[in-house]
Amino acid sequence: MKENHSTLKYDFSNRVVLVTGGTGALGRAITKAFIASNATLISSYVVDREVERLEEQIKSVLHLIKADIGKEDEVKNLVSSILGKYGQIHILVNVVGGYIGDKSVAEFDEKEWDLMMNMNLKSAFLISKYVIPQMISSKNGKIVHVSSRTGLKSTGYDSAYAASKAGLIRFVESLSEEVKESNINVNCIMPSTIDTEANRMAMPNLDFSRWVKPQDLANIVLFLCSEEAKAITGAAIPTYGLA
Ligand SMILES: NC(=O)c1ccc[n+]([C@@H]2O[C@H](COP(=O)([O-])OP(=O)(O)OC[C@H]3O[C@@H](n4cnc5c(N)ncnc54)[C@H](OP(=O)(O)O)[C@@H]3O)[C@@H](O)[C@H]2O)c1
Repeated sequence: MKENHSTLKYDFSNRVVLVTGGTGALGRAITKAFIASNATLISSYVVDREVERLEEQIKSVLHLIKADIGKEDEVKNLVSSILGKYGQIHILVNVVGGYIGDKSVAEFDEKEWDLMMNMNLKSAFLISKYVIPQMISSKNGKIVHVSSRTGLKSTGYDSAYAASKAGLIRFVESLSEEVKESNINVNCIMPSTIDTEANRMAMPNLDFSRWVKPQDLANIVLFLCSEEAKAITGAAIPTYGLA
């Protein structure tokens, strides 16, 4: 059967969308899908060389701002510069994250543990902390974080990653309760292995066709940010593909 990864047609005209980690494998697909749906798009990034890899067509419409989402002062400056220029952030998609695995607890360094917590959990706290107040004032907002299937069930040798992504699910639940009176939806998706170049290189002998495609995840994110999903909040959505 021919695969169909076409973007669903949502209209995000006049919506200001911040995608953190928009230069990564999943982030690029989400960014592209929002651009195709007429959103005004801002993406944070850290590594310059990742920006160079973006398609020219995306670079020409994307507002890129360098910011480490694990550092409070940088997050504060990022959000205030966006609000200064655009007045509002209607949608936040926090894609920042990373993985360290294949190590027993005894083998894990303290620095590696801190890095996982910083990238996968503290980043979600910091970006939410600075984006939420203006969403509360306008009584409107959509937030999607990216957790992982491992946040629900670990298969071992990934303690720091599993703990950080599990923490993110509870963070989303707690935040969603805090802000639901303000008409703000907060959810997360839980991908299993995503069909990215990095994963194909790391696991060349596995069946890539079973892995969830970035474009399919982007479609789910856009749905969660649309008015059609206004009844969904505090959810951790299984997005495993066929793996
Ligand atoms: N790949 C998978 O199989 C898989 C499975 C389940 C869940 N996930 C989750 O899905 C998300 C995206 O994964 P991916 O495969 O697309 O990863 P990726 O290609 O490595 O992209 C990660 C993004 O996060 C950014 N980032 C990392 N640390 C940052 C920081 N401190 N401040 C700001 N930006 C930072 C990176 O920016 P720079 O490139 O500029 O550093 C990059 O844009 C992550 O949250 C990941 O945990 C992935």
